[in-house]
Amino acid sequence: MQTHQFDAVIVGAGGAGLMAALYASQGGANVAVVSKLYPTRSHTGAALGGIGAALGNLEEDNPLWHAYDTVKGGDYLADQNAVKVLAEEAIDSIIELEHMGLPFDRTSEGRISQRRFGGHTSNFGEKPVRRACHSADRTGHMILQTLYQQCIKNNVRFFDEFHVVDLIMNQGKAVGTVAIQLGTGEMHVFHAKATLFATGGWGRVWQITSNAHSLTGDGSAVVFRRGVPMQDMEFYQFHPTGLYGLGVLLTEGIRGEGGILLNRHGQRFMEKYAPKIKDLASRDVVSRSIYLELREGNGIGGKDYVHLDIRPETVNRYLAEAGETRRVDDAYIAQALAETLELCRTYAGVDPLTEPMPIQPTAHYAMGGIPTNINAEVVIDENWTVLPGLYAAGECACVSCHGANRLGTNSLVDLVVFGRRGGKAIADYVKRASFTPLPSNPTGEIEAEINRLRNSKGKTRPGELRKMMQTSMMSNVGVFRIESGIKQGISDVQELRERYQTDLTIDDRGFQFNTDLIEAWELGCLLDLALVTGKSAVERTESRGGHSREDYQNRDDDKWMCHTLAYRKGDNPYPRGTMDLEINHNKKVDTSLADVDKRFLPKERVY
Ligand code: FUM
Repeated sequence: MQTHQFDAVIVGAGGAGLMAALYASQGGANVAVVSKLYPTRSHTGAALGGIGAALGNLEEDNPLWHAYDTVKGGDYLADQNAVKVLAEEAIDSIIELEHMGLPFDRTSEGRISQRRFGGHTSNFGEKPVRRACHSADRTGHMILQTLYQQCIKNNVRFFDEFHVVDLIMNQGKAVGTVAIQLGTGEMHVFHAKATLFATGGWGRVWQITSNAHSLTGDGSAVVFRRGVPMQDMEFYQFHPTGLYGLGVLLTEGIRGEGGILLNRHGQRFMEKYAPKIKDLASRDVVSRSIYLELREGNGIGGKDYVHLDIRPETVNRYLAEAGETRRVDDAYIAQALAETLELCRTYAGVDPLTEPMPIQPTAHYAMGGIPTNINAEVVIDENWTVLPGLYAAGECACVSCHGANRLGTNSLVDLVVFGRRGGKAIADYVKRASFTPLPSNPTGEIEAEINRLRNSKGKTRPGELRKMMQTSMMSNVGVFRIESGIKQGISDVQELRERYQTDLTIDDRGFQFNTDLIEAWELGCLLDLALVTGKSAVERTESRGGHSREDYQNRDDDKWMCHTLAYRKGDNPYPRGTMDLEINHNKKVDTSLADVDKRFLPKERVY
């Protein structure tokens, strides 16, 4: 075992982690980034279509309108103090990225180009607005490349392909992490004054997902196992346009450029569900509309997908119908949506310039996660009590600026804004704090669990259990939910957790790049988060944003303007059958914008 000591350790090298590392190091901290992936392969790269900010480069815009759209898109569950920060600091963050060298697309005047996205409107919902700043449809990739270069320039130390498997606590503080070096299987302890988790989401809980194989929620599970609650886990977003059968993301930017959703009759069905902004309604609304079309037998060829059409003749027809003067052609689409064309041609054998794309909703984004305040400090209860030394930012965190449903592009805004705030807060904290000693055997418990997995001799491989979990979660805790289904999902996951304990086997018992072992460990994380999701979902007896209950179809603001906090109970931190959870709803939603402007008060969402 090796031990390292840094002022700050950032776990995860996506946009939030890199931004935090950059700011902490610029503030004078000695910083390490520990990541299971090579940094530029992080999942931030999958956010394609843009990053939202009210720059107003093409049309009038205002951060207050951005905040309004975010609160409304989040179905009024977002903490409005966090939303205000998000919308206001988005502007400066994007200018900063531009100055770091991020190659944004440009308007003819040389300003950052902006496109439409779902739920982005001007003047408090009046009409769609161009707010998403983009670099073709590779915006997330460009953010990663830009921030990685800046971190290297700033002497941030990278530990690539080091998989963090435990959080070390002592004297009521977070004092470090334990990681496995994937190349050797060796355990490393990272002793730190401050640790920030930026480990992304857990889309791999579900069968159809836009998330990469690596999105297994490790960081959130690790923190949860050490006593931190998970907040708002029932709210999970299904992006409307995943490539049929695979779930690979087809960016909302396609609809932002004028793409249209069509059912088997060639009808633009979103006119029915969101008469005002149609295909550009918020994601929860569009995903549910697609499911309703499928239920009515309106899928293409009777199958469970619909079409997304970006062929220039289709787009131009609808642009003309809407009285717009803008027109597109093959060359424009090929440049603006280069990645989309490539993805469809490669994975579906479909050329979007000549054929419509087959799409279905795909598990995409966790609104819930590790609770934090607006400085990315982890909080552990409804009184906003800070856990010293522990920070989180990006998708694994719940600040909560997305409420019950995130608006497109706001994930990228979230990670740069709150990653930056986290980095600044850490730089300040490590100046004041001294190192708290490590406990006597910091790797004992996790080594025992890893060895148990390495030597497991049951009959079922991790991939089989994972598939059963994904299938059950997709049908029972997916876009639409009902009590009996959610309970079925919970009981399926509990049974799989029992088998994880008693019947698991892996083939590779070695140490070097043992992906078999790591996947078994990741499955444990997924099983924890799936169970917390199901148990949080069954308790919330209303429909709001990404949590749509068929047995409680209305939003209930009298009872449910509160967050869910789920705590693990019991001594054994690892997945074993049923898990004792304590769930409370004592944390009220922050409504500080509504306190001064009534337009931010909850009302029926009309798109
Ligand atoms: O549709 C997209 O390009 C995804 C972006 C996001 O999740 O914000």
